[in-house]
Amino acid sequence: MTETSTSPLQAPLLQVPLLQVQGISKVFGGVTAVSNVSFDINKGEIFSLIGPNGAGKTTVFNLISGIFPLSGGEISLEGERITHLPSHRLAVKGIGRTFQNLAVFKHASVVDNILVGRHVHMNSGLLSAIAFLPKTRREERAHRERAEEIIEFLEIEHIRDLPVGSLSYGLQKRVELGRALATEPKLLLLDEMVSGMNSEETEDIARFVLDMKDQLGITILMVEHDMGIVMDISDKICVLNFGQNIAYGTPDEISQNPAVIEAYLGRSKKA
Ligand SMILES: Nc1ncnc2c1ncn2[C@@H]1O[C@H](COP(=O)(O)OP(=O)(O)OP(=O)(O)O)[C@@H](O)[C@H]1O
Ligand SMILES: [Mg+2]
Repeated sequence: MTETSTSPLQAPLLQVPLLQVQGISKVFGGVTAVSNVSFDINKGEIFSLIGPNGAGKTTVFNLISGIFPLSGGEISLEGERITHLPSHRLAVKGIGRTFQNLAVFKHASVVDNILVGRHVHMNSGLLSAIAFLPKTRREERAHRERAEEIIEFLEIEHIRDLPVGSLSYGLQKRVELGRALATEPKLLLLDEMVSGMNSEETEDIARFVLDMKDQLGITILMVEHDMGIVMDISDKICVLNFGQNIAYGTPDEISQNPAVIEAYLGRSKKA
């Protein structure tokens, strides 16, 4: 990374970062979407990835969550190299995510959408499921209890049985967040959770993100265009521009960084 990165000497001794992204790149045909991007995320941090449209933020998410193979670089989770694992294996290892475009089953109820996230942890095989053995029943009950805890945490008890398609956009996003929480992530990737939300819905999400960190111990990596929420709740921010990492630091450092100001203002001048 550039001279703005934290030296490993400054990191607390013996603490392995939860996620280490080292020099990752992604080329689509002739387009380099992400070029040599590096950052570490420590356990318990709210880490934001920001940058102008097309900067490569969602591509970084897709690389970390195993949707696309890397063109170069390495990714490690708790010190273990996860670079070539497919997304379902990464979900089991504790990487959960929401998508920039709403990803819910609109005809299914809120509770059933959240139960979809539990599939990552379902152990009983098809035969025992068909036979509905006691072990399967116990598992099923445990999954439902976990789903109910998430529903309570997200304050959506009153809509638990409604089809998700009948809800407001903000509530549908909250259900998607519930599905991601149901996978029991160590690291949760949130791609533009609040875009299209009103200010009240945005404040609710900010509160849930902080509670996920403080009460559930989840580390958060979020992509956001809403600078209010980014500056309010992030511990660290990494800025991408044209696929490259141009800055890294605390909200205060980032808001005063000339390269960041230029990246945003430069684009709006051209627009
Ligand atoms: N599947 C793909 N195939 C080809 N090019 C892609 C693909 N996904 C992304 N790109 C290109 O990679 C670049 C980065 O896109 P990406 O979606 O990661 O940006 P972003 O920072 O998330 O932008 P936004 O803020 O608009 O969501 C863009 O030039 C985009 O067109
Ligand atoms: Mg994006």
